[in-house]
Amino acid sequence: MSASISPWTASGMRDENKRFEAPVRAFLDAIVRDPPAHARFMNMLSMLEHMGSRKIMLSQMNRTLTEETLSHLSEEARHAYFFKRHAERIGGEKLDGFTDENAMCRIPAAMYFGRLDAGISKEVGDEAAYQWVSLIIELRACWLYEIYQDVLESSGVALSLKALLAEEDQHLADMFAQCGGQHDLLKKLSAYETSLFGKFWAVLQQEISFRQAA
Ligand SMILES: [Fe+2]
Ligand SMILES: [Fe+2]
Repeated sequence: MSASISPWTASGMRDENKRFEAPVRAFLDAIVRDPPAHARFMNMLSMLEHMGSRKIMLSQMNRTLTEETLSHLSEEARHAYFFKRHAERIGGEKLDGFTDENAMCRIPAAMYFGRLDAGISKEVGDEAAYQWVSLIIELRACWLYEIYQDVLESSGVALSLKALLAEEDQHLADMFAQCGGQHDLLKKLSAYETSLFGKFWAVLQQEISFRQAA
């Protein structure tokens, strides 16, 4: 029955992203062993989390703000803080703001997010944009942070994403519950995100090949 189907099965996201698993793992494995690069990578994640939090806030300007939405928004803001705090700790320096120097692939990351938000909003309309953009982003966040957590554990880097992952998992379940069983739309939007991620990923991967060639 559709009531018990998981967001992974309904979206087909994990299957569609199989081809990215090994290269993303290899990328993260290289990044976590290079503290300056790891710091820049985390500051980029901080930027994306901050953009997510800000988007939720802006999407609620003309609505009745609920406890659930406020909780979601504050947790994404805290994730932004989490990544910046650990980026500064691991990098050993202040990383104020988000610049080309202190955030890896800053512009491609912002473009990925901006296109995703615009594309999904165009498809579902502004009213439904918050829940659909969130649902699609939570799939990517859970997918990426699971691999990242695995890599951190096996590399012995003192950083745990477990608490953060638990929150992203909960956001995913909450947003999935709100999509009203529209699984065809979910598949379509997730495939759209995967194509944008593929483009973003191609740029991120260059970052590591440049570093390895240097
Ligand atoms: Fe988050
Ligand atoms: Fe989240």
